[in-house]
Amino acid sequence: MAEIIDGKKAGEDVAATVAKATAELVAKTGVKPGLAVVIVGEDPASQVYVASKSKKARECGFHSVQHTLAADTPETDLLALIDDLNTDAAIHGILVQLPLPAHIDSGKVIQAISPDKDVDGFHFINVGKLGAGVLDTAFVPCTPAGSMLLIERVRGRDLSGLNAVVVGRSNIVGKPMANLLLAANATVTIAHSKTKDLAGLCRTADILVAAVGRPEMVKGDWVKQGATVIDVGINRIPAPRESGRNTRLVGDVEFMSASERAGAITSVPGGVGPMTIAMLMANTLVAACRKAGVEPPKL
Ligand code: GUN
Repeated sequence: MAEIIDGKKAGEDVAATVAKATAELVAKTGVKPGLAVVIVGEDPASQVYVASKSKKARECGFHSVQHTLAADTPETDLLALIDDLNTDAAIHGILVQLPLPAHIDSGKVIQAISPDKDVDGFHFINVGKLGAGVLDTAFVPCTPAGSMLLIERVRGRDLSGLNAVVVGRSNIVGKPMANLLLAANATVTIAHSKTKDLAGLCRTADILVAAVGRPEMVKGDWVKQGATVIDVGINRIPAPRESGRNTRLVGDVEFMSASERAGAITSVPGGVGPMTIAMLMANTLVAACRKAGVEPPKL
């Protein structure tokens, strides 16, 4: 049976490191990391995510502000708010919760965020830096950054000689994940819906990252014996009637059968999810440290 990689504990470790470094930064320079989270509309899932981001920011000792805008907010108003936050010296990180309502051009909004405050790592400047392997001044998207820390816990920082397969090619997870694995010397393949013999390809993976958003799509017998399996998916599906619940959360990997073959595997929930918020805190601290000319802590 596989080791279950404890993302909750790893996320708590990261948050504790961030909180300690924040206290030191404030004591030394008077700079308090500031995170602004912007949400447009009333999507319940987004509201839950945003509330937990703001709460965690406060727990880390940050200056935490949340801007909740009505669903029909004009794009120009949102862009004006981002302009204000870009020039606000108390704010070091800006996160605009996605998805945005259909009348707003998400791409335009993301590119309006100052790259120095882009703690999501979605701005083209940060995407380019990650692609070029210039990690010391980039912001790396939180979910792949957190997944990478979990992989490091199992495999160490140098993945030389290991085959990594990333299933999913999104800009938020798949592509940045592949770049991080490459920067750590893994041999990386990105698979997606048009890939031939996906099962066979996955069976070559020493490190298998599933980020497709399809419940339990990656089957247990696709997992190589001893592989490290990182399940990024969070899918809500109907629960069995006898459970007394309407729905339950599952990942993109068939957990029970995969854990019989994997060497280490993340669960859903309790795996990558808690790491994503922790890495947002880490990125915000890094933004503040860069502004203050202080070396950020090693995670
Ligand atoms: N919505 C779902 N995941 C994310 C994320 O990582 N960042 C932002 N801004 N919105 C999201």
